[in-house]
Amino acid sequence: MILPPALALSHQLIRQVTQPGDIVIDATVGNGHDTCFLAECVGPTGKVYGFDIQSLALTRTAERLLQQNLLERVHLIHAGHEAMRQFIPDEHHGAIRAVMFNLGYLPGSDKSVTTQADTTIAALEAALHLLTLGGLISVVIYSGHPAGKMEQSALYQWASQLDQQAVHVAVYQFLNQKGNPPSLMAMEKKGDFPFQKPNPSIH
Ligand SMILES: C[S@@+](CC[C@H](N)C(=O)[O-])C[C@H]1O[C@@H](n2cnc3c(N)ncnc32)[C@H](O)[C@@H]1O
Repeated sequence: MILPPALALSHQLIRQVTQPGDIVIDATVGNGHDTCFLAECVGPTGKVYGFDIQSLALTRTAERLLQQNLLERVHLIHAGHEAMRQFIPDEHHGAIRAVMFNLGYLPGSDKSVTTQADTTIAALEAALHLLTLGGLISVVIYSGHPAGKMEQSALYQWASQLDQQAVHVAVYQFLNQKGNPPSLMAMEKKGDFPFQKPNPSIH
């Protein structure tokens, strides 16, 4: 397929930037499909840190990883992704290759527990600090439910104001498909974050 769905495109981009031995983050582990994908990308010498606020999500993910013999490369953390800086060891700050967000609610569970714009933006700011230069953040956004629609517009508003010397942000979205398919916001770190403009008074 030339124009893949948003989630498939996010996997393509992540596969492109990662290599065995990398350290990456799954910011929303949910049922663990993306966590398994990331664990495959980084191989047996790499590491995936996975966050979720629901213990059910972490249990399901641990089972899936165990079945696929991938559990050893993953460290699952029962906490909100907005706190990721506290949980990632200092030696990995500035060395994270990719951070994946798959927003919304846990499929097959309580739909009222969903990602929220303010905590998602706090997590994205943390992720920009943790990324290595050239690292990638992918955010799959579901605007088909009311909270998702608000989250999408808040994210676009926040991201469109970021300094292009620090980060490039692109959006991939179908305009003519029924059923509100998800969109992808991809961010590539280009400079230190927050970007420090050179001080004109220093020559
Ligand atoms: C659409 S699901 C993720 C799907 C998952 N990536 C997969 O492959 O199955 C979204 C998840 O985000 C989690 N979530 C909501 N708020 C969160 C937060 N502040 N920090 C981390 N996870 C959160 C939900 O509990 C839910 O499991």
